[in-house]
Amino acid sequence: MLRKPFVGGNWKCNGSRKFINSITNTFNSEIPNIKKVDVCLAPPNIYLERLQNKLRPDWLISAQNCYKEPKGAYTGEISCEMLKDMNIDWVILGHSERRHKFNESSKLIGEKTKMAISKDMNVIFCLGEKLEQRQNGETKRVVVDQLQSLSGIKDWSKIVLAYEPVWAIGTGVVAKPYQAEEVHSFLRQWFAENVSKSVSDQLRIIYGGSVSPNNSVELIEKPNVDGFLVGGYSLKPGFIDIIKNVI
Ligand code: G3P
Repeated sequence: MLRKPFVGGNWKCNGSRKFINSITNTFNSEIPNIKKVDVCLAPPNIYLERLQNKLRPDWLISAQNCYKEPKGAYTGEISCEMLKDMNIDWVILGHSERRHKFNESSKLIGEKTKMAISKDMNVIFCLGEKLEQRQNGETKRVVVDQLQSLSGIKDWSKIVLAYEPVWAIGTGVVAKPYQAEEVHSFLRQWFAENVSKSVSDQLRIIYGGSVSPNNSVELIEKPNVDGFLVGGYSLKPGFIDIIKNVI
């Protein structure tokens, strides 16, 4: 296979020390052919180190956010340098909850992404349209606008693109496989035309939004769906079934 599948688990603002103790017992169990997929879990920052200590070493660990500056008077923020200092090599940026609930601009998200890459981190870069934008036929324009913030990036091997339609996040309304494929193949074509054929071929484009063990079976059959960014189910034993479905 050209692209190694990727399954991310975004815990958002959920979890506790007790929860980590119990879920890692499940997640650390034997999974046949696990080497064929990259699995990456993103707990709240305060639990990064605990998860690192408890979780199997063949899974990656990601932060859910970082700041665009290396250090300084930015109360409440953490920097990529700090994450690297904690041996965290991944960060989620551009998530719709950061864009819409915390009003992060595309400009800021682009600056954070460039900072992360300059510090040798990998980025799960999220993008996606709101329901109203889809209904108005604006999906492609919206995702292209969101991509513009990444102009100037040279090393695309450090990015996993996560298409997360806002209307599907945490709603139980999953995109139909043809809807996900339509946007993923559009994005891949955009990279072929605007970046390069090899970046387009190699970039992993994953889908997020109400992914479950059931619906992941059909979604992963689509040629341009390279895996998932999972919210709710990454806090449940069913996350393992989603991983098995992509292998
Ligand atoms: O980042 C994952 C996400 O936003 C999807 O969440 O709960 O719909 O799987 P969920």
